[in-house]
Amino acid sequence: MPLRWDGTLEDLPDGYDGALVRSIEDHESGVAPTTFSFMAAAVGNDVTKRGLAGQVLTALSVRARSAGLAHVIAPLRPTLKHRYPTTPMKTFVRWTRPDGLSIDPWKRAHQRMGATILAPAARSMVISGTVGEWESWTDMVFPESGSYVVPDALSLVDINCETDTGTYIEEGLWTEHR
Ligand SMILES: CC(C)(COP(=O)(O)OP(=O)(O)OC[C@H]1O[C@@H](n2cnc3c(N)ncnc32)[C@H](O)[C@@H]1OP(=O)(O)O)[C@@H](O)C(=O)NCCC(=O)NCCS
Repeated sequence: MPLRWDGTLEDLPDGYDGALVRSIEDHESGVAPTTFSFMAAAVGNDVTKRGLAGQVLTALSVRARSAGLAHVIAPLRPTLKHRYPTTPMKTFVRWTRPDGLSIDPWKRAHQRMGATILAPAARSMVISGTVGEWESWTDMVFPESGSYVVPDALSLVDINCETDTGTYIEEGLWTEHR
């Protein structure tokens, strides 16, 4: 997505959702973008671990810069984070292997491309629904209010049976490719 960003931490969108909304609002109001944001990358199961994602991100960065955009950023969704749903992102990003690279494979791929971490994105993706909707989406039951571990979610899902709501606030990680 192309969007306007002034290069400061204060002006970063909330994360994935915020970048999407800002990009569309900028476009609709005729604001010229300054920045390109990767949103998501997906590679077919039979062709992973060959460096394809990195090649695509590099090609997209080159195209963004040749289109005159000054910054390339991404609201990274670390692929191993779902195994540590109770750990805050700011802690998870500090965990490294003996070689100094992240324990997270997707963050490692970005590190190898020279990306730097800007800041955690506290409300990168927010998903709200009724308790019944959350039960059908997750194939789980939520008998009482509380915070639940849901497979593949990067953080906990908060269930409130009194208000019949379930809320998932996913933290992301803003990175910049210079
Ligand atoms: C994440 C993803 C885009 C990586 O694509 P890729 O072309 O395989 O990327 P690379 O070959 O550069 O591999 C990057 C790292 O991820 C690891 N990796 C890739 N696929 C993996 C898998 N299925 N399981 C475990 N690790 C995997 C690679 O081994 C590599 O780690 P390394 O440092 O040990 O070498 C791809 O696995 C994918 O599509 N996943 C599902 C969607 C997703 O989670 N996207 C990212 C968030 S938007």
